[in-house]
Amino acid sequence: MSDFYLETERLVIRNWNEEDRELFHLINSDDRVMQYFPFRRTREQSDTMFDELRADVAKLGYGYTAVELKETGECLGFCGLHHCNAEPVLEYENIEIGWRLAPQYWGKGYITEAAFCLLEFGFEALPLDEIISFAVHTNEKSLAVMERIGMTRDASKDFDHPRVPDTHPELKRHSYYAIQNPNKKGG
Ligand SMILES: CC(C)(COP(=O)(O)OP(=O)(O)OC[C@H]1O[C@@H](n2cnc3c(N)ncnc32)[C@H](O)[C@@H]1OP(=O)(O)O)[C@@H](O)C(=O)NCCC(=O)NCCS
Repeated sequence: MSDFYLETERLVIRNWNEEDRELFHLINSDDRVMQYFPFRRTREQSDTMFDELRADVAKLGYGYTAVELKETGECLGFCGLHHCNAEPVLEYENIEIGWRLAPQYWGKGYITEAAFCLLEFGFEALPLDEIISFAVHTNEKSLAVMERIGMTRDASKDFDHPRVPDTHPELKRHSYYAIQNPNKKGG
């Protein structure tokens, strides 16, 4: 069993296995999946990121974790809790929830199901005060997941992502969402 393991009705959320590398490259290079990102990763770059994510999950006990379909054992993509990589706008200490799914698995509610489970894990097991999320302001599918899992938009915190280059001005503006730990009063 993986060093990170959660189960939902249809899914297993776990650390990465060697067999996931090809799917991981697909979700880092496919034009539909990467529509709102200013880059695509080569297989080599994808493998490097894969190694980093896997090591992070093993070390921290959370991270961008693999989502597996119980019925078939296939890896579908990732969903997980991750330290923000958007300094100086957002400090590293902020934990975001993020996701990326191969297109053939869109439209089935898998990320909503995984994200609910990860929010519960984040608020009960870690336990975090707050989990945030953000996406390019036109990324309707991702923003819809945030709405479905009960996160609240805070337009006063919308921001231009510091890692998006000037060559892609249409990808700079990000909508900001957050959810507070319901078990912590005033948190
Ligand atoms: C963002 C992304 C993960 C959302 O995928 P998704 O399939 O729309 O999200 P879910 O898995 O939650 O599924 C919700 C969809 O399944 C449908 N659905 C079917 N069964 C469902 C169920 N049991 N529960 C909830 N929704 C269900 C919903 O109606 C919704 O469909 P709609 O978009 O036609 O309204 C996906 O579009 C993606 O990987 N995009 C590229 C990467 C990306 O942009 N990541 C975010 C960067 S910030």
